[in-house]
Amino acid sequence: MKGCFPIEQFNHIETPFYYYDTALLRSTLQAINKEAGRHENFVVHYAIKANANPKILNVISLAGLGADCVSGGEIRAALSTGFPASKVVYAGVGKSDWEINLGLDKDIFCFNVESKAELEVINELAGRKDKTAKICLRINPDVGAHTHANITTGLAEDKFGIAMSDMDQVIEAANKMGNIQFLGLHFHIGSQILEMDDFVALCNRINEIQNHLERHHIKVENINVGGGLGVDYIHPNRVPIPDFKTYFNTYARHLKLRDGQKLHFELGRAVVAQCGSLVTRSLYIKQGTHKQFVIVDAGMTDLIRPALYQAYHKIENISSEEPTETYDVVGPICESSDVFAKAIDLNKSHRGDLIAIRSAGAYGEIMASQYNCRKIPTGYITEDL
Ligand code: LLP
Repeated sequence: MKGCFPIEQFNHIETPFYYYDTALLRSTLQAINKEAGRHENFVVHYAIKANANPKILNVISLAGLGADCVSGGEIRAALSTGFPASKVVYAGVGKSDWEINLGLDKDIFCFNVESKAELEVINELAGRKDKTAKICLRINPDVGAHTHANITTGLAEDKFGIAMSDMDQVIEAANKMGNIQFLGLHFHIGSQILEMDDFVALCNRINEIQNHLERHHIKVENINVGGGLGVDYIHPNRVPIPDFKTYFNTYARHLKLRDGQKLHFELGRAVVAQCGSLVTRSLYIKQGTHKQFVIVDAGMTDLIRPALYQAYHKIENISSEEPTETYDVVGPICESSDVFAKAIDLNKSHRGDLIAIRSAGAYGEIMASQYNCRKIPTGYITEDL
């Protein structure tokens, strides 16, 4: 055992693979339930998009969270792993008819609707089934978040949500439709957000919107603030569980809920990132002109975040205790962006060593591809070993 890894058991498994520490996942879920549970109107959903491994979904559904889905495939994944339809919310800027029909057939809790055109289609499809679709309108709050440009979603120029200037008109239209029940408003400003002030800005904007709607006698039952809480990629051992207390308290303090209103959350990364690692084997140590490379058997096909967002993931050689040396850690894919890290210190590395790429439980396995005709890596949980 080095650090938190059962390395003896790893020796028999084909690399690369994902390893999920279920004890950490369960402690994380306990922390969420404890901290959200202090606020009686808070309802937490897990954003399936972060990791849809069925074993992970089972653990999360058992903890009682709802599911936030963005496709028909995710709705199926949620229902088949124990999430009740009554706790499924379904967002997405481009819902196909079959996906809307699936949501209607399964009687999901709520559609988060992103445009008036979509609302009309949902009304029509629900009408054909003689059903009523419960909906929230996703509003674009024009609030920026201090995170990577590719993962902010709440600015006016982003493709997501309904512009605030159109909101009244779309609510009015929804309230007139025969097969739509308007429940409330949905927001999501971005991902990997560590500055609570970003969430405070969202709360302030929602307060303004609520005051405005109240003046127009429009009743809102639910507010959904999406997800976005970040994790500490630099110190996965020191901060294995995000600070859910501060996160939920920020909303409790700044968002003025009306009587009986429920506040929904859709957390993805904060639930699963820290429990997962991509475990890979060093194939070759190569001495370049100025650099040393560790060439590993995992590539950007297994974990695309460093190549796509220049994301940092802590990397450890879990086989070696020798003094550190400086390496670039790179994969085998025929792309020069197939680099996990540059100029990092690792214990002196040799062919065959196991290398762990940490904090990879969110947006790792689920974003894997078969480029270069590679296999999608298998995900193992502690109980599998
Ligand atoms: N709700 C909505 C409407 C979302 O779009 C997202 C994420 C979430 C909830 C969950 O956000 P989280 O709590 O995980 O931050 N692939 C990127 C992240 C994309 C996030 C997309 N939306 C990455 O690897 O960083």
